[in-house]
Amino acid sequence: MKTKTISLDQMQEQAEFIKKIFAIHRQHGRQPLAFVETYGCQQNVSDSEKIKGMLSEMGYDFCDKTEDADLVLYNTCAVRENAELRVFGNIGALKHQKRRNPDMKIVVCGCMMQQEHIAETIKRKYPHVDLLLGTHALYRFPQRLYEVLHQGRFFDAENEEGSIFEGIPYYRGAKPLANIPIMYGCNNFCTYCIVPYVRGRERSRNPQHILDEIQQVAKEGYREVMLLGQNVNSYGNDLEEEMDFATLLREVCKIDGIERVRFMTSHPKDLSDALITVMKEEPKICKQLHLPVQSGSNRVLSAMNRKYTREAYLELVRKVKSAMPNIVLTTDIIVGFPGETDEEFEETLSILQEVEYDTIFSFIYSKRVGTPAASMPDVMDEEQKHRNFDRMLALQNEISKRKNDAYLGSTQKVLVEGISKNNSDTLTGRTEGGKVVNFIGDQSQIGEFVTVTITKTQTWSLFGELSE
Ligand code: 5AD
Ligand code: SF4
Repeated sequence: MKTKTISLDQMQEQAEFIKKIFAIHRQHGRQPLAFVETYGCQQNVSDSEKIKGMLSEMGYDFCDKTEDADLVLYNTCAVRENAELRVFGNIGALKHQKRRNPDMKIVVCGCMMQQEHIAETIKRKYPHVDLLLGTHALYRFPQRLYEVLHQGRFFDAENEEGSIFEGIPYYRGAKPLANIPIMYGCNNFCTYCIVPYVRGRERSRNPQHILDEIQQVAKEGYREVMLLGQNVNSYGNDLEEEMDFATLLREVCKIDGIERVRFMTSHPKDLSDALITVMKEEPKICKQLHLPVQSGSNRVLSAMNRKYTREAYLELVRKVKSAMPNIVLTTDIIVGFPGETDEEFEETLSILQEVEYDTIFSFIYSKRVGTPAASMPDVMDEEQKHRNFDRMLALQNEISKRKNDAYLGSTQKVLVEGISKNNSDTLTGRTEGGKVVNFIGDQSQIGEFVTVTITKTQTWSLFGELSE
């Protein structure tokens, strides 16, 4: 199936609805406020930047509290149950607020809305929600919101999978970092994962659209781009022209003004030699790789449908490390996949020891309705899964600290991102490998590169002093 690309100027209709909503607000003579909360992955963060872009053109400004908002929007995640429960909790908590302020509109969008049973639950239990919008219908947000504002209509999630929409306005995060989606969806059907069902099949953006967008953000002063896709290594497979991720990266690196290029996520089964070569050769590509392993056991990997073995994964890590000895490696792990035994869990611990990741993102398996793993028999109770999870974290914390200790006394080129959350005198930025560095500096340095000597380390971050 070829991907259909539709741009917003082709969709005059949606642009017209943006104008109509702007006109409604102007009539009221007061700037409306929107509260937007995002759950889940970078792709959702990027979708929210588009939602905020559209809201901004409709005349909305943004606020931090639902109490102040004329419109509350939750952009939801379906990957694990706890994210879903938080959304339900938050929507439930708005019931009284809506009673006090019936004009407040509540929108729920994102991956949860692509699941029929969830949309049904919201309709039944949370009738104060005004609009449900699935990921594929995101571009139709202006029209649907207009209908809600104008006609007080309630709308259901709609499904129109398979297209890519270009030209939706962005409300980007703070400089110097810009998120750039390069593809949508996933074809891999790992047996635990809901993403292929809620985000649809893999669709690559046209490379020229990607390069134009990066050129634009470079002009606006962004210095670093994060290229996003569920599996960037299969970028281009669905395009008519000959194109792959390594080639796209080379083109991105030619863009003046962009000094750092990162990407996420790489499925180990598709990581090509060409990609390792381009990472090694292009100085702008950060020497950092997120390479989800999920499990160290071949039986579990096969039950997960990951399509690689422990041995093949370790060989890949060896190749990557020998090409780039200072590479920062991170991974995702699932603990307690159905049927996982203690012995199999030990194999995951041993892979952490062998690879020595800088950081891991670990999750206890969460059953997702409609996925193959949901009907696989389980052998381990929840308490044991939690004990294993805690053991894994303790081991990884030791490894992360040891990896960070190796930076003591070194000088690092840091791109300054902002003020530290914990201390307003302190600036925070990242090394090329993506490690967080905190140091005392001047706010005028935000967005610039500085050189920092590392003087102290913790499990999650480094501390340093500016050097000349
Ligand atoms: N339960 C637990 N973790 C999951 N992930 C995906 N689906 C599930 C699930 N059902 C994790 C995987 C993936 C990361 C984004 O989320 O580790 O790489
Ligand atoms: Fe989910 Fe697997 Fe696709 Fe990642 S590669 S989004 S884990 S199905």
